[in-house]
Amino acid sequence: MDTILRKVDVNNIDADVMKEASEILIKGEMVAFPTETVYGLGANALDELASKKIYAAKGRPSDNPLIVHVANMEQIEPLVEEIPDKAKRLAKAFWPGPLTIIFRKSKKVPYGTTGGLDTVAIRMPNHPVALKLIEVSGIPIAAPSANTSGRPSPTTAGHVMEDLNGKISMVLDGGEVGIGIESTIVDVTADIPMILRPGYINKQMLEEIVGEVVIDKAILGPTDSGIKPKAPGMKYKHYAPKADFTMYDGELEKVISKINEVAEEYVRRGYKVGIIASDETKEKYRFGEIISMGNRNEEITISRNLYKVLREFDSRQVDYILGETFVGEQLGQAIMNRLLKAAGYKVESVT
Ligand code: TXA
Ligand code: MG
Repeated sequence: MDTILRKVDVNNIDADVMKEASEILIKGEMVAFPTETVYGLGANALDELASKKIYAAKGRPSDNPLIVHVANMEQIEPLVEEIPDKAKRLAKAFWPGPLTIIFRKSKKVPYGTTGGLDTVAIRMPNHPVALKLIEVSGIPIAAPSANTSGRPSPTTAGHVMEDLNGKISMVLDGGEVGIGIESTIVDVTADIPMILRPGYINKQMLEEIVGEVVIDKAILGPTDSGIKPKAPGMKYKHYAPKADFTMYDGELEKVISKINEVAEEYVRRGYKVGIIASDETKEKYRFGEIISMGNRNEEITISRNLYKVLREFDSRQVDYILGETFVGEQLGQAIMNRLLKAAGYKVESVT
């Protein structure tokens, strides 16, 4: 299949391109599109066969449910059994935006979209191209991140083409995304809402709207710890670069010396080494290929660059990645969650 790549100016969206993309979706085929978090691989959420194509194109395990994207609240009603009061408040506070809410599904949503679950994940993305595509097509759009399963999520149309060229009908190129890591997922089907995946909207922000919120404990540690995460996708080794990736945690100066020492040894043994640095530290590394994630004080820059940096090391075919850790106020938990998963939870404390 030839994949059509179309540039879309987010400030002046071409109606003909949206019509072309919508017709593809209505026919049951796939279109990748930008959202504010990462690029999504879209298909008609109410068409089981269309959802199946998503799993095939990504090589995604069939028990891993898809997020359904909508453009307004009216579109949700037919998809869910009820809209709990806390969900209404969260939607009002954060939609359109980087928050996915889990509801009990209605009969209308096929099990092929929800991975066999009786719940459905719904999100109203805050991106003009995504919203326009949903509006023009008039259908709720199931969309996982538009990467091959297991690879880092795509933050540019180029990343989508790397993974899915020839496997899907169309890619809408709306430029680089703003946030760079996937939406926060919150389950409101129980009394106390639970975060199933951390993201830009953090626990404190949710608590300001609905009171107590808990975090699924299974997502804080390695997936072999025995507790099963409530978001099926969180159990897979995920977001991972091809190289062996280890993070080094501790006082920054000591981390830099340790990484230099380990990198020197690998380079001496003939390996290609990648180093995840920051603007403040990048000049201090002496071996390997050094890429900065950005200024340590700008969390949003770090999150926007995270997957791009991991993909860059893939394309440079490094054997080892050595990285600093990143902590932050708002996005810290989400950033470390993705980095830990990418590193298979390999973190060495440097003292
Ligand atoms: O930011 C995002 O959420 C992006 C953009 C494209 O919107 N989408 C995304 O989708 O990250 P995906 O498929 O890569 O991740 C969806 C996650 C998976 O971990 C999946 O298991 C979980 O959502 N999920 C979906 N439906 C669920 C449900 N009914 N109950 C629990 N978890 C669910
Ligand atoms: Mg994904």
